[in-house]
Amino acid sequence: MTASEPSRPPLDRSAVADVTAYWRVQVVEETASTNADVAERAKAGEPAGLVLVAEHQTAGRGRLDRSWETPPRAALTFSVLLRPAVEPAQWPWLPLVAGLATARGVRRATALTGVALKWPNDVLVGGAKLAGILVERVDTAEGAAAIVGIGINVSTTTEELPVPTATSLVLAGAEIERGALLSAVLGELPHLLEVWETATEELRTAYLDECDTVGQVVEVSLPTGETLTGRAVGVDDEGRLDVETDEGRTPVGAGDVVHVR
Ligand code: BTN
Repeated sequence: MTASEPSRPPLDRSAVADVTAYWRVQVVEETASTNADVAERAKAGEPAGLVLVAEHQTAGRGRLDRSWETPPRAALTFSVLLRPAVEPAQWPWLPLVAGLATARGVRRATALTGVALKWPNDVLVGGAKLAGILVERVDTAEGAAAIVGIGINVSTTTEELPVPTATSLVLAGAEIERGALLSAVLGELPHLLEVWETATEELRTAYLDECDTVGQVVEVSLPTGETLTGRAVGVDDEGRLDVETDEGRTPVGAGDVVHVR
């Protein structure tokens, strides 16, 4: 290792000991995508609570059909299997819940300031993207399952970042072992999942408290290819971002948001 190469030890599995009452954590050296693997396991009957971590993903999936690629051991990449007992109307809030748990876990593990959410669930530090989340739903013989896939840039260098608007914990000034970070994020999930299953209003309040998007002028690239520009004014009961434009209020269910100011 040269002086400029980042240190990338294997994930410390002993660091997740305090969350094993709730989660079954498994670590693999390399796979294409932990979301794809956990979806297969869900279809094969795996119970809720599985957490699959990969030291390296070779075909990681991102939101809006993008890819998510990180160098071996540079990021914390994992997927959580849930089998939620919630009404269909509540499902769209799950990606926001996952974002909230990740932001809180990052803050707790690193004591970084300036950690915030960009709708729906990008975790930002100082306005740059630190973590991305992809929630997928799969139908299984035991009912609908949710795969919550989380990728957090940990020791990624500036040269390794996919876009200049991204960042990593090391670049933001935080040194953290990835097992300890995993434990912090997993530790936040059970309570938030309970709130998700029972109390929409409490969840919206908690989310808006940490979401930087609402109140800002935003540009949203919609899946149709169109761009919507306006002020984000809230999040509705279906987890959609309400954007106020000259033509009125538009609820946005999917899209890429840029904070203009
Ligand atoms: C995004 O911001 O576009 C979402 C990125 C989600 C990446 C994570 S890494 C672990 C899990 N497995 C995947 O293939 N994707 C998610």
